Amino acid sequence: MNISIIGTGYVGLVTGVCLAYKGHKVFCVDKQQRIIDSISRGVSPIYEQQLDSMLAHVIKNDELKATADLSQAVMDSEITIIAVGTPYIGGQIALTYIKKAVYEVGAILKNKKDYHVVCIKSTVVPTTTDTIVLPILKQASGKELGDFGLVMNPEFLKEGEAVQDFLNPDRIIIGAIDEKSYEVFKNIYQYHFDAPIIKVNPRTAEMIKYASNSLLATLISFSNEIAAISEEAGGIDALKVMESVGLDKRFTPKVRGELIKPDATKYLKPGRGFGGSCFPKDIKSLISFSVKIGYDPKILKSVIAVNELQVGRILCTLKKELLRIEDKTIAILGLAFKANTDDVRESQSIKLIKELMEAGAKLKCYDPAAVEKAKKELLGCDGLEFFNDYREALAGTDAAILMTDWKIITDIPFSEYVKFMKAPAVFDCCRALDHDKAKLFGVKYIGIGFRK
Ligand code: UGA
Repeated sequence: MNISIIGTGYVGLVTGVCLAYKGHKVFCVDKQQRIIDSISRGVSPIYEQQLDSMLAHVIKNDELKATADLSQAVMDSEITIIAVGTPYIGGQIALTYIKKAVYEVGAILKNKKDYHVVCIKSTVVPTTTDTIVLPILKQASGKELGDFGLVMNPEFLKEGEAVQDFLNPDRIIIGAIDEKSYEVFKNIYQYHFDAPIIKVNPRTAEMIKYASNSLLATLISFSNEIAAISEEAGGIDALKVMESVGLDKRFTPKVRGELIKPDATKYLKPGRGFGGSCFPKDIKSLISFSVKIGYDPKILKSVIAVNELQVGRILCTLKKELLRIEDKTIAILGLAFKANTDDVRESQSIKLIKELMEAGAKLKCYDPAAVEKAKKELLGCDGLEFFNDYREALAGTDAAILMTDWKIITDIPFSEYVKFMKAPAVFDCCRALDHDKAKLFGVKYIGIGFRK
């Protein structure tokens, strides 16, 4: 099929590259010439594992084209996917970019004879596609449903693993406004992907996306609450608790009698709390949508509340362990909101850094990919140094806080903490290190959900 994609952020670009890789002809539309030039050269404008090599491949084979010419792209394709941003402003998502893109596509469809399906891929609150997008499309095109189609097709792509998630989906949700839209749109996925296609209406599709992210965030906050109770009680290892909970076959199904061990703790693991551009924004948006339509969502509010307590709890523990923060130098290991990305949006690490600066600590920060973005985020903060080598960040410090579980960080041998730090003490906020091993090396270990 020929497919246009509006928006070349990590969702739009990954979708475009993967669909091109699967044999479709894709037009990636963006207004910024810098982005078009970069894509056309086969160089991804965003950091995402595997994307560069796949982009280079599909550009070379002429399967993907970047363009600013939306009109030509829509005219030459059967489907247009809208994957523009929905910034969180004033307690809810702003639909400015969506509305603009929908209007522009609608106006182009006015002059198009062939049937064309418009797809909303951006995350939008339930009712957006049928009550906002559809009327704009009708008005801009002067046409009725049936002359064009409309679907809501949410994405489930994790930053850093987006390509793999796209190529190996757990499920494909198609929220179709009518049968014809579904029949045409499903051809994008049918025969190309080994996953169930779930046909629903647009509102249900929108809700599936929010419910998925909300459940995952709920698991994280739940684990962190169990960790907090365990810390206060003492002598409990909340990681062992949640690992054991996760091994219940209702969470971790057995495949031919074998437990799928590594995933048993995913999202059921104590840690520094969730961040990023999705979980905090999506849950807050669902809360405000829910309140607006007359339901007070108590669980969702608590999920956010527990998450917002996490940085404060880390700071409190640190103050207790280090006695005085203001005359200490602390290494921050990991600045991105999670591993394998340079994204620092809503990063718990950045929030902790701000609190520690306020408390008067000197900080030495390290991240394998996010240093430049973190510098921008922390512009104007004094007493902060950034390093591209963790050894330099560790040198002469009184404590190291592990905030992002990059492999290069979790692989740091305990001998190096001993070698470089003034006083080898590590606060494991990702529960990624072996506390018994730390003890063997004489490294003081503090972990979320783990107190002697
Ligand atoms: C999330 C969802 O996982 C995707 O399915 C969804 O498509 C995406 O949002 C989106 O809405 O676009 P993402 O934000 O990239 O993806 O990251 P996750 O890997 O899910 O992590 C989110 C946050 O939770 C991170 O801060 C991460 O460190 C934290 N997390 C994750 C934990 O604290 N513990 C865990 O066990 C897992």
